[in-house]
Amino acid sequence: MYSKDEQRQLFNLTKELLEAPLPDKPDADFAASLRNTINYHEWRYYVLNDPVISDYEYDMLYKKLQELEAAFPELKTPDSPTQRVSSDLTEDFPTVEHLTPMLSLDNSYNEADLVDFDQRIRNYLDLDESFHIEYCVEPKFDGGTIALVYEDDVLVRGATRGDGVKGDDITPNIKTIRTIPLKAAFSEKGIEVAEIRGEALIRKDVFEELNKAREKDDLPLFANPRNAATGGLRTKDPQETAQRKIDAFVYHLGYAVDRQGNNHLTDFQTHDATIDYLGQLGFKVPAHNGDLPERKVCKNIEEVVAFCQAWQENRDNYPYEIDGMVVKVNSLELQQRVGFTAHHPRWAIAFKFKAKQATTKLLKVEFQVGKTGVITPVAKLEPVQLAGVTISSVSLHNEDFIRNKDIRLGDTVLVERAGDVIPYIVKPMEELRDGSEQPIVFPTHCPVCQSELVRLEDEAAWRCENPECPAQIVQRMIHHVSKNAMDIEGLGESTIERFYELGWLHTIADIYRLDYDKIAALEGFGPKSAENLRRSIEAAKKRPLHRLLHSLSIHHLGIKASKLLAAEINYLFELAEWDEERFTRIKDIGPALAHSVMRFFHNEKNIKILREMEALGVNMHQTEEDRPKAVNTEGPLFGKTILFTGSLSRMSRKEAQAKAEAAGAKNISAVSKNLDILVVGESPGSKLKKAQALGTVQILTEDEFLELVGG
Ligand code: IVH
Repeated sequence: MYSKDEQRQLFNLTKELLEAPLPDKPDADFAASLRNTINYHEWRYYVLNDPVISDYEYDMLYKKLQELEAAFPELKTPDSPTQRVSSDLTEDFPTVEHLTPMLSLDNSYNEADLVDFDQRIRNYLDLDESFHIEYCVEPKFDGGTIALVYEDDVLVRGATRGDGVKGDDITPNIKTIRTIPLKAAFSEKGIEVAEIRGEALIRKDVFEELNKAREKDDLPLFANPRNAATGGLRTKDPQETAQRKIDAFVYHLGYAVDRQGNNHLTDFQTHDATIDYLGQLGFKVPAHNGDLPERKVCKNIEEVVAFCQAWQENRDNYPYEIDGMVVKVNSLELQQRVGFTAHHPRWAIAFKFKAKQATTKLLKVEFQVGKTGVITPVAKLEPVQLAGVTISSVSLHNEDFIRNKDIRLGDTVLVERAGDVIPYIVKPMEELRDGSEQPIVFPTHCPVCQSELVRLEDEAAWRCENPECPAQIVQRMIHHVSKNAMDIEGLGESTIERFYELGWLHTIADIYRLDYDKIAALEGFGPKSAENLRRSIEAAKKRPLHRLLHSLSIHHLGIKASKLLAAEINYLFELAEWDEERFTRIKDIGPALAHSVMRFFHNEKNIKILREMEALGVNMHQTEEDRPKAVNTEGPLFGKTILFTGSLSRMSRKEAQAKAEAAGAKNISAVSKNLDILVVGESPGSKLKKAQALGTVQILTEDEFLELVGG
């Protein structure tokens, strides 16, 4: 429908239109360019299921066109996207007309917009400040909209939203959705024909499973749960729809008439009551219960704001993708009085969460040297707003990441930031390339010390192997003082860089022999901050041994492995005596880690630095109270995973687990092919059957278990 050239032009135009304010005297060409870009983005979103801008950017474009048409009505054309609800109609299914038009929702992006919404309704109804409008608030589910028609209690039709007036008839596919009842007792209330609106969507964990299975079968992966759901609704084969394990929430009763044609919506006082009713009929509806309920009746707009904010925070913990909250006037009488515009109900508004995805330009790539010499490519981006923060650089991880995704300099890239997750590049937008994009060339030499880089077999990273590389030295010191390592407060990244440049720091041992008089005399410091720093460094000298181990920037040695190692020794220098085999005797320490720790402790330079630190008072000993709980590598169950099921008669479940752990086993919580031993008490249930079916699990009685671990 759109050629690559057209797409690129429209995309660039989009960014220009978004940045520029409305001209004082817009002409017909300007209005046309807004309309064309909006049409293009609707096509990408509804037809391709693959938008190239965030919902927020789309909404801003749309608002611009609305504003322009309001100020210059002569520029409004009958084919303007503001004059219709956008369409997801296809040619694959028969079309059916909805019993009432399916409109969009008006959008809001911040608390002030919600307060304005409340004020608008008040003005419209001529209500004064003392009247509090009650609202019902629910998640805005991010899936595919569906309309369900029941006649004489039987589901007779399921359709997509289509263009709002007509939709695709996808009844056979809809019937595979388990959460949609095929029969519902509307007739008990005298209702003969009912139409219900809702959203079909896939749980995030189910989506992950679907993609895992597709990866195995070499099928293209779904981009997100929404695409998997909307695609699933439109397959020609209902079997395929069924396999996607689609769920459906319903959130609107749009039509309810009896045999005489009487409207039964008036049987209900509130939106909330209609949803309760649908829940009673067996539909899945947003629930009232829980710490953070899915549905809440709020007494005023302030409560609405607080509830929306709470959900914004909780969004990533929720099992389904949601992109905002929907705020609805609760009273059906008030709803009727405010009515609809051509585009949306006036009584509802969506509170949109901050976009998690956006597109932006990749300007250049910098190569950073880490504490172990690993070279990390970092993409510098044209700054872009993502989930409320400005992103201007993201890690590209390693060369394989760049090659697998085929990311190039000058590309427009899709970036995502979900919750606390570090932002990352999802993919380059290949269709927006104009040929000027350049491959990213990985350096052959360290950008800081110029030594030749090496890439070890089985490793994704290129590495600078020069231990004297200034970048590495500084990074190692930064790591050494960091929170999870020696936790030296007051010695941040910039201070370390400054002290390094002053020639005060060459190795981590130098941290413990800093001259506090000199520091006190530095600009930005003084006697007090120098004294504070001295105190934190003195405190750091007493840190437990596993922290010291972790602080040494030994390749592969994280916090967990540092604890495992520290549990096995009394004095740091014991490790210098160990051979590789002794390291690998510890469970969870593999050959790569063993090799790397051994190399570190066999290097004289490292030992010299550690001896200096010891002389300066840094703790090198293990105290019993600090000793991380050791795994009993000599125990009879060492290396085994274990699970208890059914009720035990000679000890509690907790005691049993402690005994298993003391014998070297690891307790796990489910039967899988990773399980070695299942201990069976009375009335064991499904876990036993599952384990028997696997055929690889050793099954023990309680007595047999006790015998094995020695009582
Ligand atoms: S109410 C007249 N409630 O969001 C009924 N819509 O962008 C208006 N949506 O077309 C819809 N969750 O498909 C409503 N809890 C919810 C919703 C919801 C998702 C969808 C709906 C609508 C779209 C607007």
